Amino acid sequence: MSQQSMKIEAARAALEYVENGMRLGIGSGSTAEEFVKLLAERVNAGLEIIGVPTSERTAKLCTELGVPLSSLDETPQLDLTIDGADELDANLSLIKGGGGALLREKIVAFASKKMIVIADGSKVVEKLGAFPLPIEVNIFGLAATKQAVEDAAGKLNLTGAIKIRENRDGDEFKTDGGHLILDASFGHICDPEALSNALHAIPGVVEHGLFIGLADVAVVAQENGVEIKTA
Ligand code: A5P
Repeated sequence: MSQQSMKIEAARAALEYVENGMRLGIGSGSTAEEFVKLLAERVNAGLEIIGVPTSERTAKLCTELGVPLSSLDETPQLDLTIDGADELDANLSLIKGGGGALLREKIVAFASKKMIVIADGSKVVEKLGAFPLPIEVNIFGLAATKQAVEDAAGKLNLTGAIKIRENRDGDEFKTDGGHLILDASFGHICDPEALSNALHAIPGVVEHGLFIGLADVAVVAQENGVEIKTA
């Protein structure tokens, strides 16, 4: 089965958790987009849900396909969020933000009673960190914030390149919130919680891509079928 087919299978299996009347957080990224396409089919067949998108890109796709949308201001409490991940471990701790939507993704997941991660098997890891950790930072004081991130990571024996994310044109990548992303290649993160706390203590860090204690269920598509993991 191709990776693309596995993404579709994970999305299809997650759709089983969606019930009529739900207030739904809708993730970002290629796996979440497969979910949106399948969700739209159900909506067009009569399923009634209201979605809160985690990025402008997801909002656009939902609108194009006829998935009704709300905002967290109008709908501050959600029943379920379904989103992808760049990495997930056995505790369902995640690295997210490969697409740069981590801040809105975390706000939406936090506002949800339940979060389901959808992924193909390549995303499952023993220890987080092979995927560079996205860290969303304020533009103001960028060099100072980057230095502070390096210092904080160093105290946890985490070293490695920290790069300012660029878009295809070589310009600085800007998030939907107008911030920048630092991609930190720390390698294996032995204590994600300690790193999370250390990053949150830096004023210029807006948010980071470690999602700890947010995911309740992971729907992971492997070659031989879909596996359900719980936290
Ligand atoms: C978007 O910012 C990310 O958090 C995505 O959820 C994550 O990168 C997974 O994306 P794919 O489903 O495209 O791998």
